[in-house]
Amino acid sequence: MSGPSAEGGSDLHLELTGDGGARVRLMRALREAIRSGRLAPGTRLPPYRALALDLGIARNTVAAAYAELVEEGWLTSRQGSGTHVAQRATPLEPGRRRSPERPSRPRVVHDLMPSSPDASAFPRSAWLASARRAMTAAPSDAFGVGDPRGRPELRRALVDYLARTRGVRTTAEHIVICSGYAHGLRLMCQVLRGSIAVEAYGLDFHRSILAEAGLTTVPLTVDAHGARVEDLPATGAKAVLLTPAHQFPIGGALHPRRRAAVVDWARATGGLLLEDDYDGEFRYDREPVGAVQSLDPDRVVYFGSTSKSLSPALRLGWMVLPGHLVDDVVAAKGPRELSVSVTDQLTLADFITTGAYDRQLRRMRAVYRRRRDLLTATLAQRAPHITVSGIAAGLHAVIDLPPGTEQATLRAARRLGVALDGLAPYRHPDSTMPPRDGLVIGYGTPPEHAITAALHALCLALPDPP
Ligand SMILES: Cc1ncc(COP(=O)(O)O)c(C=O)c1O
Repeated sequence: MSGPSAEGGSDLHLELTGDGGARVRLMRALREAIRSGRLAPGTRLPPYRALALDLGIARNTVAAAYAELVEEGWLTSRQGSGTHVAQRATPLEPGRRRSPERPSRPRVVHDLMPSSPDASAFPRSAWLASARRAMTAAPSDAFGVGDPRGRPELRRALVDYLARTRGVRTTAEHIVICSGYAHGLRLMCQVLRGSIAVEAYGLDFHRSILAEAGLTTVPLTVDAHGARVEDLPATGAKAVLLTPAHQFPIGGALHPRRRAAVVDWARATGGLLLEDDYDGEFRYDREPVGAVQSLDPDRVVYFGSTSKSLSPALRLGWMVLPGHLVDDVVAAKGPRELSVSVTDQLTLADFITTGAYDRQLRRMRAVYRRRRDLLTATLAQRAPHITVSGIAAGLHAVIDLPPGTEQATLRAARRLGVALDGLAPYRHPDSTMPPRDGLVIGYGTPPEHAITAALHALCLALPDPP
């Protein structure tokens, strides 16, 4: 028996051959199609009725076959979203037997890595509505060769938005659109020379961008009030890279005295502050901490990104530049836009000006705040000997561990299927700060229904009280 067409015109080309009843033969055919790679991971299978009709078998037989293959790990099934080929049910080379339940990579059941917001909360309908409006209203020249500074509609929208929400003082002429912070930093690297001071704890990926551009990075000690910028004169650096609103990953906001001090240093030495404002919109316990840029727009390069607010896959961000750097950064970007799609730029401009961005941020701020509260409550109840810090803002927190226990805790977490980071990889190799044992918990990533289970699993991995 073979099936000509299933739901939506997709044809599974199943042959129900060999011994056994219809259920056994269907299961064999589906396993074979998955094993051979013909049905790729993630493929949606037709509803029971459609496949039953195609194959001339009973609907209940298809339902029973799907259910058994879900049990075996070949398929996944979720209420409301149908049955799919499991992500881990990848084909093996011919001749090898395998159990689909035994993956070769560590099993990640609970993703608490601090890298992503909740991807399932991306505002699909509102984004689509903005895209539709933006495409309808766009002038024809928008679809010609792009200006490397970015679309004027987006730069104008950002001027108002950043002034209102982050206190940034600028004009559309000082903004350059980029494909996120990493891209903006790469562009700045082409303008900077010599050495740059960085926070002793930060993303090694960003340090690598600086190093690959030939810049020497000099670490500044970080405490609960951000980086010790009072040490800047001793570094000899001409620029400093900070996360002032929410130090990444330790979590403090740069103390007001230090905010003033870094600007004083920049004015006195002709230096530059690169301000990475990656999650400034998510502040829970008081009004957002404004951008340092507002203290001196001539001495600060301000970077913003949609990677935490919407999605790290959009690749959309902005740099707000002092006037004297605009030409150099635009020249570094090249004569035409090569990185950011015009449709995304125009859509984001509409998304901001119609208030959809504010609505999404308000909604997600409430979601993440609840999760943050759940994290602190769960730890207080299940691991009261553990302290958590950096919780006033953002999508991650830091859990302090007894000295020497970070690696063992990470191993225990991995065994429980919990993916998370320790503090060690964030530490600048030249830092003289005493190493700190801890975990960086990204509570933004799991979808809403999974966060409680993820936090419970995390608690099981934590060291016992001394
Ligand atoms: C410290 C820090 N800076 C910046 C970003 C944003 O980077 P990008 O815009 O390149 O995705 C992130 C991640 O979202 C981050 O963790």
